[in-house]
Amino acid sequence: MKRAVYPGSFDPVTYGHLDVIKRASDMFDILIVSVLNNKMKSPLFSVEERVKILREATKDIPNVEVDSFTGLLINYAAEKNIHVAVRGLRAITDFEYELQIAQTNRKLSRGGLDTVFLTTSLEYAYLSSSSVKEIASFGGDISECVPDFVAKLMKEKYGNRSGVYGQ
Ligand code: PNS
Repeated sequence: MKRAVYPGSFDPVTYGHLDVIKRASDMFDILIVSVLNNKMKSPLFSVEERVKILREATKDIPNVEVDSFTGLLINYAAEKNIHVAVRGLRAITDFEYELQIAQTNRKLSRGGLDTVFLTTSLEYAYLSSSSVKEIASFGGDISECVPDFVAKLMKEKYGNRSGVYGQ
């Protein structure tokens, strides 16, 4: 059974992430989408909320599981006996950061965790959770960025926080 993990903040999941999830789920028997519980960041949605959102957004893809993790990705992957991480690359600007993480993980895990990159479909190359949060915080239209139910949840969050979009 070929299994992979797609780690990320997913605060919130965008159509860009969902594009990567759909394509990666065709390549592996099981894809675990796992939300990093990063105590350093102050997210818009809690880890529990992000897991719930991801479950709803991926409910029609049977081989996708949603989970969360704390600490190093290599330790989480080792616990799950997973040897492949999936990440999306939107543009050359992502490359340096992603290359560093991928090489660090490979080195730290002594080759136990490799990274597979999927280039984000061009129609989503401009998308990031941060820009979606900024647009939503000013009441802008994010209907082409996230599923409707996510846009609604964001609207609720920003109800009385105009212009404060967090990380
Ligand atoms: O969606 P993001 O915030 O770009 O995802 C970044 C993520 C979660 C993939 C990365 O920060 C991560 O794996 N963090 C866990 C800590 C870790 O393993 N660090 C070592 C690699 S530098």
